[in-house]
Amino acid sequence: MQHRSVLSAGQFTRHDLDHLLALSAKLERDLKTRRMIPLLDEYILATLFFEPSTRTRLSFESAMHRLGGRVISTVGVQFSSLAKGETLFDTLKMVEAYSDICAIRHPVEGASRIAAQSIAIPVINAGDGAGEHPTQALLDLYTIEKHKQISSRKQRVAFIGDIKYGRTIHSLIQLLWHYDTELVFISPEELRLPQKYREMLSRRDIPILETDRIAAVQDCDVAYVTRIQEERFADHREYEKFRDSYIVDRELVECCKPGLIVMHPLPRLTEVSTDIDNHPAAVYFDQAQNGLYVRMALLLVLLEVEY
Ligand code: NCD
Repeated sequence: MQHRSVLSAGQFTRHDLDHLLALSAKLERDLKTRRMIPLLDEYILATLFFEPSTRTRLSFESAMHRLGGRVISTVGVQFSSLAKGETLFDTLKMVEAYSDICAIRHPVEGASRIAAQSIAIPVINAGDGAGEHPTQALLDLYTIEKHKQISSRKQRVAFIGDIKYGRTIHSLIQLLWHYDTELVFISPEELRLPQKYREMLSRRDIPILETDRIAAVQDCDVAYVTRIQEERFADHREYEKFRDSYIVDRELVECCKPGLIVMHPLPRLTEVSTDIDNHPAAVYFDQAQNGLYVRMALLLVLLEVEY
């Protein structure tokens, strides 16, 4: 697998995905009996997070530590020299000088692509505004494979919530089209899938259904629930209108197809009720944990270190 940076989920071939899933599974298995797999002890990862994050940043950092590497980081514009007026380009030149690979989260769509064009070290898009979040999509795919074996069985996947601004959805659909899937998008009319992604799916003949009815989840194998992305709304009243549009709770899950899994990239607000946290369908905490293995796999691949 030959990739310098990870900017969009669309860059991966089925072959790349098979390799990444297998490598992640091997790392998960091996970490049951050891705490570290020290293959990256000569490398430094820089994490630059200019938007809030818990799981993505911590799992990248933990992944690097578990591989024996080192991490330097800056969080929030207010704590970096960007607050003094430094340009992102100048900041990136320093990151290039101090580290071997970097993960960037930035509010502007396309920011990581610009970063990758500006510096010579690999850049990982850890979320660019309402654009994409390709590494989340990889761990989502890994989770679907682990619980539902998507490589060998057709899956009907429902996306519920903010499909317009949900960057994890924009990335995950670009991985799912390599598999036998049907996609169901459940959202208010105003938060539907952007046209650009609808065209991508139609070019690949992926069957889709768009609806505002939550009942459409009942014959699905996977329910991928997302938060209404408050920070992307120009008008806060609009957000208020949609905030509690859908709630996936025990009552709903019990009317669904047996074996359904409920996923969420987290953080959740009210859209997934805590009354299913202990239900076998709820896999979102495992999903978050999978981020560790998948990000370890990615770091190894991008730094071209064999395992
Ligand atoms: C997501 C994100 O940042 O896009 N979170 C994450 O990385 N796990 C989802 C969200 O914020 O709603």
